Amino acid sequence: MANDETTNPKSWRVRTRAVRGGLNRTGFHETSEALFMTSGYVYDSALEAEHSFDGTLDRMVYSRFKNPTVETFERRLAEIEGAAACRATASGMAAVHAALMCQLKAGDRIVASRALFGSCQWIINELCPKFGIEREFVDGADLAAWERALAKPTTCVFIETPANPTLEIIDIAAVAALTHKAGGRLVVDNVFATPMLQSPLALGADVVVYSATKHIDGQGRCLGGAVLSDSTFCQDVLGPYLRNTGPALSPFNAWLLLKGLETLDLRVERHCANALRVARFLEGRPEVARVLYPGLESHPQHALAARQMRGWGSIVAFELKGGKAAAYGLLDGLDLIDISNNLGDAKSLITHPWTTTHQRLSPEDKLAMGIGEGLLRLSVGIEDADDLIEDLERGLTV
Ligand SMILES: Cc1ncc(COP(=O)(O)O)c(C=O)c1O
Repeated sequence: MANDETTNPKSWRVRTRAVRGGLNRTGFHETSEALFMTSGYVYDSALEAEHSFDGTLDRMVYSRFKNPTVETFERRLAEIEGAAACRATASGMAAVHAALMCQLKAGDRIVASRALFGSCQWIINELCPKFGIEREFVDGADLAAWERALAKPTTCVFIETPANPTLEIIDIAAVAALTHKAGGRLVVDNVFATPMLQSPLALGADVVVYSATKHIDGQGRCLGGAVLSDSTFCQDVLGPYLRNTGPALSPFNAWLLLKGLETLDLRVERHCANALRVARFLEGRPEVARVLYPGLESHPQHALAARQMRGWGSIVAFELKGGKAAAYGLLDGLDLIDISNNLGDAKSLITHPWTTTHQRLSPEDKLAMGIGEGLLRLSVGIEDADDLIEDLERGLTV
């Protein structure tokens, strides 16, 4: 079944779609989604096998191509996002890699925002040139820089907004318009916002990618990823790339991610409420040089975030006046918040990007992205905000 063939009423609102979207019950009438742990499928005859491969029959042939549980996850996420189609992948990086490389070839040009997650930056900065793809990085918040970079024909533009870990906000509608003038597609990594807080396709983007490992699972259990776009891109451009390179999502992980989608809205609501309280607390502390959170009036793109997001998200970044020593002092002084490079989890997690997620970048590249040695990225969980604030108070005063 194609992703956009759903039997759900079109009138369902997003919260209903998150719980029931894409559900296709088997003859056992189960309440929860069925888990099809199978790598392959069998045929009643040789002719049926032949017709399954020549396209006469639309059916499952191999779980690298399609699996019923994975397809339920794809349909549900597509319904939440408002996308015509979705393809799931084994991780967020598999989604980013496939979404970019399936459409790029030697001689093409990609333009990306400078502030990116380390592995996304690696794909564009290191991998693309190896295949003869020209790349250019732009200061994401500078619209004049986008106009200059997109004055030349460009195949693809990649942005993260809010960006990891600097929480920079990029004007999706404006960059989409410039990308289309340059003849390209805009790919948005929507990990920090989640489908609950931002809809890049509705703002003009062409492709959305997720690390489903983050808020979609949100409970530290599994890796996963997804690419959402129109049916032509998913079937004709991305489809053959996934089928033949094989970054398929495990059916078990798809099942976990379906359960994650059911509670995503509730969790994101609590994440956002807690993060705003934590950000305001940090802003009032003398040890903190600056707090980066789109919900704070002090955030440089607060007004833009209010326009294009429906909430401020779960991630707060903050710079300590005492640099790396102060950052390590805080990390080691925490009792409740865990030191971890993951994010979007129910548990609050904190990391030092300079030495972890962005370690492999040169000091110059890190500084150009806005990552200093005193910067910490806090993924605020869904615990009681008072306990989180008490823990940060403890860490700041050691
Ligand atoms: C913004 C962003 N994009 C992509 C990824 C990659 O996701 P995964 O770890 O699931 O491969 C991450 C992971 O941290 C991320 O933060």
